[in-house]
Amino acid sequence: MNTGFVNTIEDILSASPVMAVATISRAEDAAPFAAALARGGVRSIEVTLRTPAAMEAIRRIAGEVEGALVGAGTVLTPDQMKAALAAGARFTVSPGATPALLQAGREGSAPYLPAVATASELMAGLEAGYGTFKAFPATVLGGEAWLKAMHGPFAEARFCPTGGVTLESAPRFLALPNVACVGGSWLAPPDRIAAHDWAGIEALARRTVEALTPP
Ligand code: 3PG
Repeated sequence: MNTGFVNTIEDILSASPVMAVATISRAEDAAPFAAALARGGVRSIEVTLRTPAAMEAIRRIAGEVEGALVGAGTVLTPDQMKAALAAGARFTVSPGATPALLQAGREGSAPYLPAVATASELMAGLEAGYGTFKAFPATVLGGEAWLKAMHGPFAEARFCPTGGVTLESAPRFLALPNVACVGGSWLAPPDRIAAHDWAGIEALARRTVEALTPP
């Protein structure tokens, strides 16, 4: 057990104002895709464990793309967390949290970002030693209004709202004091990945970073 657990997910989340949420169908696309994002200035990528290729995609990005910070998303069980970390994930993310995942995250070799959708879930996460959470599905929860409401009783908690966030709405989320970054799949359009449009993805990442970085 790693008794020196510290929730350093903040370091990961501060690497880019946006975390690209990517569902990758072909492992061979993973490294060129991540490299294009990194060239455009987006370093953090959450590869969702929703395809058979996901673990190999994480392995390839971790092994081949300097400058990328790859994590595993849609982590639903401690076993998936362990497998993702073994594949090279630098962090793990789940769409909710369970007591078993909160414990596994504390004992794992890399930071874990649990998700919350209610005050009670947030209290359980804080009690388990976490300070930063994915807010999911952010826009369904109420978007900025939900985050502002949580800031009252839980001023110390920080969030990465994900789910329905767009390039257009991202600046409003990022302006909130309790938002560390946003997550979004707009940086990983499946049609562009399938077409190997790496220049287009790089340009999209660059446009995104320019729009979201204060002058
Ligand atoms: C996630 O798993 O975090 C979401 O599916 C991403 O949400 P989005 O596709 O609305 O950005």
